[in-house]
Amino acid sequence: MTAAADPGRRHPHRHAPTPADPTDAFGWGRVAALFVPHRARVAGVVLLVLASSLLGVVNPLLIQRIFDQALFGDTGLDLDRLWTLVAIMLVVALGGGVLGVLQTVQTNRLGRRVLRELRNRLYTHLQSLPLSFFAGARTGDLQSRISSDVSSAQNAVTSSLSSILSNAVTFVSALVAMLLLSWQLTLVMLVTIPLFVLATRMVGGRRERITREAQQQTAEMTVITSETLSLSGITLAKLFGQQDREIGRFTDVSDRLAVSAERQQVIGQAFFTVVQTFLGATPILVYLAAGYALNGGTELTAGTIVAFTTLQNRLFFPVARMLETFVELQSSRALFGRIFSYLDIRSDIVEADEPVDLAPEAVRGVVEFDHAHFHYPDSELATITDLDVTARPGQLIAFVGPSGAGKSTVLQLVARLYDVDDGAVRIDGHDLRDLSFATLARSVGFVTQESYLFAGTLRDNIRYGRPDATDEEVRAAAEMAAIHDRILEFADGYDTVVGERGFRLSGGERQRIAIARVLLSDPKVLVLDEATSALDTASERRIQEALSTLVSGRTTLAVAHRLSTIQAADVIHVIDHGRVIESGSHEELLAAGGAYRGLYDEQFGGGEVETHCADGVVLADGSLQRPDGVVPRALRRTPAA
Ligand SMILES: Nc1ncnc2c1ncn2[C@@H]1O[C@H](COP(=O)(O)OP(=O)(O)OP(=O)(O)O)[C@@H](O)[C@H]1O
Ligand SMILES: [Mg+2]
Repeated sequence: MTAAADPGRRHPHRHAPTPADPTDAFGWGRVAALFVPHRARVAGVVLLVLASSLLGVVNPLLIQRIFDQALFGDTGLDLDRLWTLVAIMLVVALGGGVLGVLQTVQTNRLGRRVLRELRNRLYTHLQSLPLSFFAGARTGDLQSRISSDVSSAQNAVTSSLSSILSNAVTFVSALVAMLLLSWQLTLVMLVTIPLFVLATRMVGGRRERITREAQQQTAEMTVITSETLSLSGITLAKLFGQQDREIGRFTDVSDRLAVSAERQQVIGQAFFTVVQTFLGATPILVYLAAGYALNGGTELTAGTIVAFTTLQNRLFFPVARMLETFVELQSSRALFGRIFSYLDIRSDIVEADEPVDLAPEAVRGVVEFDHAHFHYPDSELATITDLDVTARPGQLIAFVGPSGAGKSTVLQLVARLYDVDDGAVRIDGHDLRDLSFATLARSVGFVTQESYLFAGTLRDNIRYGRPDATDEEVRAAAEMAAIHDRILEFADGYDTVVGERGFRLSGGERQRIAIARVLLSDPKVLVLDEATSALDTASERRIQEALSTLVSGRTTLAVAHRLSTIQAADVIHVIDHGRVIESGSHEELLAAGGAYRGLYDEQFGGGEVETHCADGVVLADGSLQRPDGVVPRALRRTPAA
């Protein structure tokens, strides 16, 4: 199958996947959908909220009876009746308390469940995104999406959900109760509500702005800290003496955050004061209104007036809470929008609908680039052009070329870290896009240019690809990778914990751990991106040992920087600007005197820099590099081969 025969797979103008505009991604329907799996619990919460809010109006109404029937009734004091009413009030109060606790517990439980699901879904989704997404993403951003955004959004919604409901019910029930008591007084009350709303809105609007500001500053601070306090970030700052600048950047945001926090508090206090003032002032209005009503001949009992002032709290407070809640919901729109925009990013590297699964034994290890073309998303330039290379089982294929030529990119295509734009990459004749991810991961082993060790023990790092490997297998792999002896030198041996990036290991040691890791998973196809950096001589030698074990019995595609790897290669492809410009064996290419010859002369001084002899490698200055160290030229007994 040639590229032209399969035009459906062209992606001429690809963009790196980035989150869309959060406002577009947002929708209340999507938020509601998060609660659908929990509808039973939602219904439970709703019932509890209704019950406890409705129960709240019972006691104020009973107060009226206590005054008008038990304490100051037509027949004077009625103690029996008082006892009955007081007993009912007590039961109602207790019942309200219990319902309140149940409601809080259930709401929080619901919130936690939805939160957990959303968080897990987001993480699972991020795991599925292609490399190109992470190449463009800021780490701190992703962290705050998962840790703070999800929980703030969720909290806002669950607390808002019950808050709006309970406050609405409280408001309406209080209003009905008030109307039952006295419609005249109720009318007076209702007139004040617009005033109250206006006053709180004025304060609320500012409060909203400042809260948003503070959220942005917090996010900014997370990004700064996670970047600059990472090992690479801090190393960079120290090496370039730029710590003052980083401190300046941080303190700037931190200071602004402090200012916002203070303003937030002042405004919060102002909001509270407005509500308090209203609550304090309205009974005055009720007494005045009652006076005029009585004066005008309306019948009003003392009990009604007391009950009325008690109910008042249940009118203004819900209004204040609902106004606040709407503000919270507004800000949670932004949070949810951001989360949804990440969930909406579609991965362009997905498993086929009916993926081909190959049994590990069945893989032969033929790797074939069929007129492959590739460019990085958002990049105008073609990185790989018309690559047509085949590696037969057991062969060692080397790619050499100047820095930035596209060598690492070629290797990434073999592991399907990126998909080709045109043409195909195949293993045993199967297009990588048809193979299952599991088959791909099993068949292709990758030793990257920089070996990443996660925080954990050396043993766990080695058996990352095969968590079920026994200690013996781990040890055997480490021995083959020439790292076993070094591991035993650590006090904790295989249980030595390495830092986030395995900082306690040297570059060469890290690489040998990475080699052991791949050896243990025993893939048929090996992809090897040799480090460009020169290693210390002893390490270099051991890596060579480790590599020779690694490549045997596998198809290897290697970006080669070591002479030994290059010399061992069956075919060498010279890559320049993403194209193969020369191919052949080491000797053939040297004899041809083309680009390879130039590279070789440059990198290895035309063979004078390193030559092999029985004891080791002879370096340019005439010293001998042996497995146990370097022997200076003056001390060498055997002449260079
Ligand atoms: N994620 C990326 N997005 C956009 N461009 C990229 C990306 N990764 C690499 N490139 C570009 O693609 C080109 C090839 O990069 P590649 O890493 O394949 O080079 P290389 O041959 O491995 O170089 P070196 O020998 O220095 O490792 C370079 O110009 C590089 O800047
Ligand atoms: Mg590279």
